[in-house]
Amino acid sequence: MKDYNQSKKLPFQKLNGISEKTIAIHHNKLYQGYLKKWQEIQEKLKTADKSSANATFSELRELKLEETFAANGVLLHEAYFDSLGGEGDPKGKIKEALIKDFGSFENWQEEFKALGMAARGWVILAFDFNDGKLHNYLTDLHNQGGVWGTSPLLVLDVYEHAYFIDYGSDRKSYIEDFFKNINWSVIDKKFQKL
Ligand SMILES: [Fe+2]
Repeated sequence: MKDYNQSKKLPFQKLNGISEKTIAIHHNKLYQGYLKKWQEIQEKLKTADKSSANATFSELRELKLEETFAANGVLLHEAYFDSLGGEGDPKGKIKEALIKDFGSFENWQEEFKALGMAARGWVILAFDFNDGKLHNYLTDLHNQGGVWGTSPLLVLDVYEHAYFIDYGSDRKSYIEDFFKNINWSVIDKKFQKL
């Protein structure tokens, strides 16, 4: 059960290529920031003025919009950190399912990496309960581009804060290093729990 009052600890000590400084800023400032804002929004919603609800601008509208931004900011970052700390060696039922749904592991990987270059925010490998298949999704914002009824498994953050300190504008090398750090055991466990 998710508790938005609790922050999740990093599941690893060190990564290959992605520096401790980048991860510290990413986890301790940005991720924690989303969590605090989610909590602040929940407090404000308790007393938000419902009588002035308006689709152009109203307190209620803005709070409800940013509630999804903050919540997904928390959930996607947790899934991103959970995706890391391994040796990049694909294994388990998730590997079999990727081969089944994408034709080959290489096909899936090629698409996921290309989406990493095309996205402005996130690339997400998710299981879709609607059709029972794995899909890659691209989103530019935390609260845009998701599909209802899907569960994220592997999450790649391509906002510049995730890589610029270590790689400058060389996003391609960051994505290559992300793949070397994927913890497939964790992804497989998440998949098998669905
Ligand atoms: Fe991020």
